Amino acid sequence: MESIIQDPGMAGEGRRKIAWAAEHMPVLNEISEEFHREQSFAGLRIALSIHLEAKTAYLAQVLMRGGAQVAAMGSNPLSTQDEVCAALAASGATVFARHGCTSEEYERFLVHGLSISPHIIIDDGGDMLQLLHGRYKHLSADLIGGCEETTTGVLRLRARAEAGKLNFPMMTVNDGDCKHLFDNRYGTGQSVWDGILRTTNLVVAGQVAVVAGYGWCGRGVALRAKGLGARVIVAEVDPVKAIEAVMDGFEVMPMMRAAPLGDFFITVTGCKDVISTEHFPLLKDGAVLCNAGHFDVEVAVSKLRAYAAECWKARDNIEGFLLPGGRKVYLLAEGRLVNLAAADGHPAEIMDMSFALQALCVRHLALFGRQMKPGAYPVPREIDRRVAELKLRSGDVDIDTLSAEQVEYLAGWEG
Ligand code: NAI
Repeated sequence: MESIIQDPGMAGEGRRKIAWAAEHMPVLNEISEEFHREQSFAGLRIALSIHLEAKTAYLAQVLMRGGAQVAAMGSNPLSTQDEVCAALAASGATVFARHGCTSEEYERFLVHGLSISPHIIIDDGGDMLQLLHGRYKHLSADLIGGCEETTTGVLRLRARAEAGKLNFPMMTVNDGDCKHLFDNRYGTGQSVWDGILRTTNLVVAGQVAVVAGYGWCGRGVALRAKGLGARVIVAEVDPVKAIEAVMDGFEVMPMMRAAPLGDFFITVTGCKDVISTEHFPLLKDGAVLCNAGHFDVEVAVSKLRAYAAECWKARDNIEGFLLPGGRKVYLLAEGRLVNLAAADGHPAEIMDMSFALQALCVRHLALFGRQMKPGAYPVPREIDRRVAELKLRSGDVDIDTLSAEQVEYLAGWEG
């Protein structure tokens, strides 16, 4: 099947973006050489459903250099970059993605991609996984296994595994240390504010930023908000995370109390209705609502539309809402991932580690997947360590190594 993309003529700009990202991904570059030499994926078909922008396109190209046949789809209609799709298609992948496609097209594109009967999938959020366990089960006939990129997708696949309803091995790449410690925290922390600032062109210093969710992503978003000079309030439901936020120096309170105070709201929980009907009457004039969680359910957008007297396009990627009493509030990126819908996502140097982890997990599946039973598998420790070592080396950072005596001591043989 031929690629379905917006415009093949946009490939030049896409190529420049991919080249820029690749230049800043030294770990993936080194692994790419290895895959190329070994032809690690010769004869394998790989389907990716990912935020289709320069860094993920480069990951797809690395897999192709290793001999894979690749079908690439977007994991979110607003994060797909048409010029990158054009460049990726021109480099040999089959691409089914268009920026701003409808929900029906989105699913159809996933099914087109899965029609290659993949040996391995790379999923971001678990939508391919759902399809392969439902109406399109037959497309998993050749499947060895897959990798999941994000927290929400890992939660979905774990729930399946626990119910005994996961039909193949899935590696929980998100839970690898070299993923969530850096990508979720520093990547999301930086790129969420990049997305908000580029979209709104508003000042953050002196404003109140309410961050809902103090997990890996929320910690990063709150940290960077503080760095930008905001007064930061955290809303959490887990008492351990909440006390961590207190110790990190943030105010913690329920959303009902934070709602009248915030200038910027960022939801990053993986949960739904975090800002909803009970909060809308409390929001102050000018409040900006943003979501950075995987699905567009954290701000209850349709309830907000129903509650508002009027909605309008205030600026690119900003919808305005007139609320009772004449207050105006603004929603960024239709309530979808603000850092990917409104900007280029995480910095390339950070995704270097995430995608090196992905690539090495794909090779792990290619080598051992056929012996792995259905279930959720953590990233092997040696893969995490290798990515960290390569990253340190790329930055010319040396670390100490344990002596034989120290190894013995730590193993508890002495002392
Ligand atoms: P996490 O599990 O580390 O943290 C989520 C936090 O939200 C937890 O502490 C939880 O207690 C809290 N929470 C849950 N429901 C809540 C509610 N109703 N109100 C307040 N707090 C609530 O997850 P992580 O890694 O921080 O990911 C969060 C979301 O962001 C997921 O959907 C994930 O897929 C997505 N994600 C987004 C990225 C981006 O680029 N924007 C990057 C990586 C992950």
